[in-house]
Amino acid sequence: MNVVSVVGTRPNFVKLAGLHQAFQTIPDLHHKVVHTGQHYDFKLNAVFFQELKIPEPDYYLEIGSGSHAEQVGNTMIALENLLREEISTVDWILAIGDVNAAISTAMVAKKLNHRLVHVEAGLRSFDWQMPEEINRVVTDRLSDLLLVSDPVGVENLQQEGVEDERIVYVGNVMIDTLRANLHLAEARPILKDLDSQDNPYGVITLHRPSNVDDPHKLHGWLQAFEAVTAHLNLFFVVHPRTQARLSDLGFQPTDPDRLRLIDSLGYLDMLALQKGAKVVLTDSGGIQEETTALGVPCLTLRDNTERPATVDSGTNQLIGSKPEALLEAVTKILNTPASTQVPPLWDGQTGQRIAQCLLNSVNLPLRNQ
Ligand code: UD1
Repeated sequence: MNVVSVVGTRPNFVKLAGLHQAFQTIPDLHHKVVHTGQHYDFKLNAVFFQELKIPEPDYYLEIGSGSHAEQVGNTMIALENLLREEISTVDWILAIGDVNAAISTAMVAKKLNHRLVHVEAGLRSFDWQMPEEINRVVTDRLSDLLLVSDPVGVENLQQEGVEDERIVYVGNVMIDTLRANLHLAEARPILKDLDSQDNPYGVITLHRPSNVDDPHKLHGWLQAFEAVTAHLNLFFVVHPRTQARLSDLGFQPTDPDRLRLIDSLGYLDMLALQKGAKVVLTDSGGIQEETTALGVPCLTLRDNTERPATVDSGTNQLIGSKPEALLEAVTKILNTPASTQVPPLWDGQTGQRIAQCLLNSVNLPLRNQ
């Protein structure tokens, strides 16, 4: 069986690692990887391949940065050429997650009549202001097989009229990677390197356009972070997009020892930092899930989440777009024991289940409506 995965960004690489580990163990499964090049520098890209021991991608499309239309359009053109000219036999094309690579893959794969599977299907924030929601909806609408990571995804897809035989709840492949690498993360000297001196700390990540592109909104979050530092030191791991916006604002923390800005981290250091945190403040999808698997409290700086299992498990809480609510929520968390409940099948075996689904469904008729 020939399987082609298309990846483009940091969260894709983490999921690819879990898939690759599992696919390797199936003798008749031949896996090729296409990298669109949306994330291209060392810290958002190569470090993940290195640390997670993912082989070099078989093909690079070198798309790079740009508007969403530029990224999707250029990926579609390059991927169509690749599938027409270089990759002749394909049983399954994998679109992964909700990034621009996923929607581009879905449209090209289906127009060339390939069999398309979506890994992380069925997630819905019900917020079409979010670029990733458009990517999710279109990718699911076109996929022949929909592999679900959050139990609510099954209901969402059924409500949208997807036939039951196309929907499989497989669990979360990102958690396969987390479980396989936690011991390596725990051995990293990142906290020593950051000179944290065993002081309790929180971690911040913030990169969504809705939080960082509006200077007024970003300023509100920064003020709230400063207020939290009266109770807890914070490490703010800054995404390149956010770095550019902070520079535009000329932002410098009042006390740089209590609110420490640090550059994007590799996978293992980020996992180690999350594992040791009292609380994580984030607008990332993957980090909501990783904190759930780690049993670390998470405050999501968004009005909604497409990953409600993280809230049901008791680790995640939505703060909405109200920075003024942050301080009270953090102080409450500091005085409450953390939950350790994990959603079903977030057990480290999702990659294996995905491989079995691909083998079992290879004769599933193509979707036609
Ligand atoms: C993308 C995904 C988002 C995911 C995030 C994880 C989409 C629609 N969004 O958002 O779902 O949570 O990745 O990081 O696909 N940049 C660099 N170096 C890089 C990559 C990007 O400096 O290696 C810069 C770009 O020049 C740009 C900014 O980061 O200014 C944003 O990059 P972009 O690719 O638009 O998406 P992300 O915000 O990273």
